[in-house]
Amino acid sequence: MREPRVVSNPLVAPSQVGPLTADPTAFHRTLPGYEPTPLVESPQSARRLGVAAVHVKDESARLGMPSFKVLGASWATYRVLLRHLGSSPEEIPTLDALATRLAGSNLRLCAATDGNHGRAVARMAQLLGLRAIILVPADMVDERIAAIRSEGADVEVVDGGYDDAIARSAALASDDTLVVSDTSWDGYVDPPMWVIDGYSTMIAEIRDQYRDKGLSAPTVVAAQIGVGAFAAAVARGFAEHDGVHLVGVEPTQADCVTASIEAGGVLTIPGPQLSMMAGLNCGTPSIIAWPDVSSGYQTFVTISDEQAADAMRLLAADGVVSGESGAAGLGGLLAHADALGLGPSDSVLVISTEGATDVANYRTIVGAAPAAVTAPAKG
Ligand SMILES: Cc1ncc(COP(=O)(O)O)c(C=O)c1O
Repeated sequence: MREPRVVSNPLVAPSQVGPLTADPTAFHRTLPGYEPTPLVESPQSARRLGVAAVHVKDESARLGMPSFKVLGASWATYRVLLRHLGSSPEEIPTLDALATRLAGSNLRLCAATDGNHGRAVARMAQLLGLRAIILVPADMVDERIAAIRSEGADVEVVDGGYDDAIARSAALASDDTLVVSDTSWDGYVDPPMWVIDGYSTMIAEIRDQYRDKGLSAPTVVAAQIGVGAFAAAVARGFAEHDGVHLVGVEPTQADCVTASIEAGGVLTIPGPQLSMMAGLNCGTPSIIAWPDVSSGYQTFVTISDEQAADAMRLLAADGVVSGESGAAGLGGLLAHADALGLGPSDSVLVISTEGATDVANYRTIVGAAPAAVTAPAKG
């Protein structure tokens, strides 16, 4: 197995990173239960890293779901359906209006997932009165499958890894089966672009929270990477700041972006990827995310499952319930603090992108589960 490593990015060019879009925020505000998620301090992480402060954006409860992914899934679902109807956001401005327009339709939403995105698409289908078919890799834990089914979706377990589930979803696309994917491939680019746009609501919240708390901009921002859509949104939000160090973090077993950076262009690594960080188990970077990811990040690092577990425990000690993929950003900084040159003048931002989406594993790693995770969030 590959050892954890640090790769300095020869392609870095922050001025080439695209801008954030403000479009999805008004839409997200109309969704049931919308409110900004907390930005909290993690003093124990700061002590361990030897930096001035660590701020954590806590995405363990977002729109009634245990991960940030519903921001991208909801906006992309909305845009995919508007396009299908030949309509515009001005004509159908809210989810309720869309549900009314779709009443009686036979449409079905389809997505491949390593957990969180698929559950979020299933939730959107349920809110809109549509059916959903969600494709999952063979190694997905039962709890995550049950969470998707609890949203009323059909789940099909694909023989293979995440990339195989993606291929199966693409094959199912038809006039009444609309694919809402968070990754892109040749000829399929708009929905994953809308997914990245959807994440901008979270980035805008972070920037507002820094301003409202009177904080100066972070000097180091870590983003965990699966296909790179999340990291693209983070780059759009922070790459422009002078002197900021953006660090992309991947599992050693699912290092498709780091390997692509080393190769000088997008490639597919052998699969299936079986890291404990299920949300990051991807074999191919999203081609629509690649330009912002490859130009926005100074450094890419890879980590083992145990290094992610270390970050989960540290965040738990400061009251943040963070799942395996959620804690990976901090895990990358902890594992490689010296090589990254972290020091007392640094102020760090990490985004805990999920809560305890595999409660049994969370209990094994962290010990006694906080009350918040004994019943997985569902709203
Ligand atoms: C909790 C969590 N964090 C981070 C990511 C990474 O996002 P992306 O695949 O856009 O790189 C995922 C992806 O599923 C995820 O579920």
